[in-house]
Amino acid sequence: MRISVIGTGYLGATHAACLAACGHEVIGVDSNPERVALLSRGEAPFHEPGLESLLYEGVTSGRLTFGTNCAQAATADVHFLCVGTPQRPGSHAADLSALHSAVAALLPYLERPSLVVGKSTVPVGTAAVLGQRLRRDAPAGDRVGIAWNPEFLREGHAVEDSLRPDRLVFGVESDESDQVLREVYAPQIGEGVSVVRTDLATAELAKVSANVMLAARISLVNMLAEVCEASDADVADLTGILGLDERIGSKFLNPGVGFGGGCLPKDTRAFVARAEELGVGGPAAVLREVDAINMRQRARTIDKAVGLLGGRVHGRKVAVLGAAFKADSDDVRDSPALDVAATLEARGAEVHVYDPKATGNAVKARPGLRAASSVEDACRDADVVLVLTDWDDFRGLEPVALADVVRHPRVVDGRLVLDPDKWRAAGWDFHALGRGG
Ligand code: UGA
Repeated sequence: MRISVIGTGYLGATHAACLAACGHEVIGVDSNPERVALLSRGEAPFHEPGLESLLYEGVTSGRLTFGTNCAQAATADVHFLCVGTPQRPGSHAADLSALHSAVAALLPYLERPSLVVGKSTVPVGTAAVLGQRLRRDAPAGDRVGIAWNPEFLREGHAVEDSLRPDRLVFGVESDESDQVLREVYAPQIGEGVSVVRTDLATAELAKVSANVMLAARISLVNMLAEVCEASDADVADLTGILGLDERIGSKFLNPGVGFGGGCLPKDTRAFVARAEELGVGGPAAVLREVDAINMRQRARTIDKAVGLLGGRVHGRKVAVLGAAFKADSDDVRDSPALDVAATLEARGAEVHVYDPKATGNAVKARPGLRAASSVEDACRDADVVLVLTDWDDFRGLEPVALADVVRHPRVVDGRLVLDPDKWRAAGWDFHALGRGG
């Protein structure tokens, strides 16, 4: 099939590359010429395992092209909308301006029957509004259909999640649209991936509901961590016990500095904003607490670091290990690690940051931070070490050797990746959220 993908950020670039890998002819359109130039050479604009080789294969096969103009999408049978829907400045609601601009840019070229499929995370009701607009303003009128097909991919696993998703959700208004999507995803369906056909609104809600469930789970576990700390219990043991209950399971049960990134925080807030518009803000208020508990983890981590520094932050040297919002990513959007580092820097500390992939993005976002080239480089003469991203590299840190590098062996484990007994035995003043001590 001929498919266009409008917006080639993390979602769109991955989706375009995976569709090309499935044998479709794909044109990715983005208003950013630098990004288009990079993608056209088969290079990934961000760190995502397996993406670059798929992009390269797609581009060299001729099945995958990129451009800056929606005119290039005119001959496609299916148009996927993959632009970002960030938090609106000064509000908790989603900013849909990029989505509306993308539709405005595409509209004049919708001269033949086609299906416009939203993948972006949107407030429920958006698809219905877009559908009316397409029918009213597209040259092909009601021969242009609308569908919603939310994407559940995780950063760091995006290619695998796209090629072998847990489920495919088709929010459609007709059998024809359902058939088109079945053709797009024929390889995945052939491999047994479940398809859930539903209406537009349920499909829109499916995505944001999954994210608020995950966010709520993390905040619940962080609430438990705080209770553990107050009662001298150990949250790592506690979550181990909870995870063995089949009904609860062990995934998304890691306490620490909290959730971040371009999705969970803004989706939680946008969900509440939309629920309020719909008159059901009362029950959705539970998610305000989810957000508040999450932000509290950052403050608690800072308090622990300041406590270890005896309350004097100015001029002290802080080593921050981890800047990405999670392991296996170079993304620092709304990263708890970056937030903690930048707050300590703003309070006068000299903050040296090392992350296996995100150091560059961290200092670009917060130029006051100092880039370190390795763990040792960050920790040299440090007054306190903070571990804030759950990279596997940090799990294997050698506390005995590192104690010789720092000025004072004090550490805050903000991700529960270090073994407290081992670090204490090596002479470290060891603290972790939810582990007493
Ligand atoms: C999330 C969802 O997991 C995806 O399904 C969804 O498609 C995506 O958002 C999106 O909306 O596009 P992602 O943001 O890549 O994916 O990251 P997650 O793996 O969900 O982690 C989110 C945050 O929660 C990270 O900061 C992570 O460190 C934190 N986290 C995760 C915890 O603090 N504890 C956990 O147990 C798990």
